[in-house]
Amino acid sequence: ASSARAQASAFGFEPIGIATDYDIHVPAGYQWKPLVRWGDALFSEAEGAYSPETGVSVEMSDKVFGENTDGMETFTHDGHTLLAINSEYVNPKINLPAASEGVPQSADEVTLLKNMQGVTVLEIAEGDDGYAVVIDSPYNRRITHETRMTMDGPAAGSDLVKTNADPEGMSPKGTMNNCGSGKTLWGTYLTCEENFNGYFGATGDYEETAGITRYGIGGEGRYAYEKFDSRYDLSAEPNEPNRHGWVTEIDPKDPTSTPIKHTALGRFKHENAEMVQAADGRIVVYMGDDERGEFMYKFVSNGTWAEGQPTDGLLSDGTLYVARFNDDMSGEWLALTPETTGMPLEEILVFSRLAGSRVGATTMDRPEWIAANPLRAEAYCALTNNKNRGVKPNAGGDETPVGGPNPRETNNFGQIVRWRPEGEDHGAETFTWDLYVMAGNPTVYDNSYAGSENVTEGNMFNSPDGMAFSSDGMLWIQTDGDDSNEGEFAGQGNNQMLVGNPETGEIARFLTAPNGAEVTGLTWSPDGTVAFVGIQHPGGSWPDGTGKPRSSVIAVWREDGAIFG
Ligand code: FEO
Ligand code: CA
Ligand code: CA
Ligand code: CA
Repeated sequence: ASSARAQASAFGFEPIGIATDYDIHVPAGYQWKPLVRWGDALFSEAEGAYSPETGVSVEMSDKVFGENTDGMETFTHDGHTLLAINSEYVNPKINLPAASEGVPQSADEVTLLKNMQGVTVLEIAEGDDGYAVVIDSPYNRRITHETRMTMDGPAAGSDLVKTNADPEGMSPKGTMNNCGSGKTLWGTYLTCEENFNGYFGATGDYEETAGITRYGIGGEGRYAYEKFDSRYDLSAEPNEPNRHGWVTEIDPKDPTSTPIKHTALGRFKHENAEMVQAADGRIVVYMGDDERGEFMYKFVSNGTWAEGQPTDGLLSDGTLYVARFNDDMSGEWLALTPETTGMPLEEILVFSRLAGSRVGATTMDRPEWIAANPLRAEAYCALTNNKNRGVKPNAGGDETPVGGPNPRETNNFGQIVRWRPEGEDHGAETFTWDLYVMAGNPTVYDNSYAGSENVTEGNMFNSPDGMAFSSDGMLWIQTDGDDSNEGEFAGQGNNQMLVGNPETGEIARFLTAPNGAEVTGLTWSPDGTVAFVGIQHPGGSWPDGTGKPRSSVIAVWREDGAIFG
């Protein structure tokens, strides 16, 4: 009881126990409600479009909130509050008629699946019942697999990104598998294209190059798009996959703006993009590549920036680095250049994984979100889990020896690595690192699988994934792991959101998700009194209590209206 009291005083709330039900739980003194659910209308013509039995029709599918909410950020503009929110992927069995059995049977069904993914920009406003979506706001916008985009940076316009439909290689269509997010210092949204490989398939022959293999491209597409749309057919458009897997910038303040794919930031399975600034004013973006045995990266701009200055070139001109972690708790950012890799610059950017292998980057336990502490020069990456560590390399990738920040062989629990750049400068090329937490289960194990000292019977969890700092310097941790509550996961319950104190290492459970769901995506209202939290792929009939389960963004606030986080 004394340690629970200490935690309560450290965080200002009484930590909650685990849950195994199909509901949300928050601490005493807090409330929650759904803010926007899959299928909720953005425009009045789509009000009532969602049916608990059949979901949403293809006609209304680009006028509603998409499925499987993920990363998101808050923006304020001219007195309006805007959210940009990713819809990572789609569950065909939930969206398509039962007769389709989860495989689209027509071009219309493909369009429905495409429209349920991508990015939503929407306006919210506070009324008597808290925040709600502003239907028909001129800022409301859907950005899908079909939205026209542009590219910049050294790989834009290169032969590697030219297709029959776009012989200039400058006008890609669509963004896909939008996972984590980022916010630029100048107030635009960064959406991160993660498992783009699964959208492409082949109806005929194609060449299995190293780039295709290393990125897991090929075989059958997960949604059979290639059968209805040749853009997704490797045998017709072998370069189309090279136009995806980028960090894409969207200006939520201008609904007519064209999203920009920034090739200078490299192409891999992007989790999120955490932007900070070097001591000399250069822009630094930290990025993870979420795959077993892949790497962590950072981009550093050539130009510098200060409030009010132009942003041209900041994300198109710079150096991409990949991380090497040494066993002595030191580390280096290795520049990926033609000199260090022997590869032309456009190949370094389009096939960044191959470039990282050439310079000896450290293979990681699936780098998910990276979050930078606003109060000191340090950053954290959630290494979610890795069942193959030490056993085998990923497809075409490097060996994955146990060591450094990846200390366990079979790693079903995950850990969070933290690094502090040399000289407290995010622009530095060296750093020191430690593990902020190694997740585990101290009630099942008494070895390294019990977890680090700050893991207890009262706060344990597995598979850290989403992370964000609140302005007070607290690290919020969201999980996407095994919620069976059985075996080595006994006592961990449903996926959850916890908060960690970077100074003391203390971690406390704040929220539990419905069974089946992961918790992913976190942002706050402009005044900091309301947290918006993403609940992806819930089970049961959450949150409606009847009909299909609906991924949703929820609002969470303190009953006394005080700021938290
Ligand atoms: Fe989309 Fe790696 O999570
Ligand atoms: Ca994730
Ligand atoms: Ca995950
Ligand atoms: Ca996910």
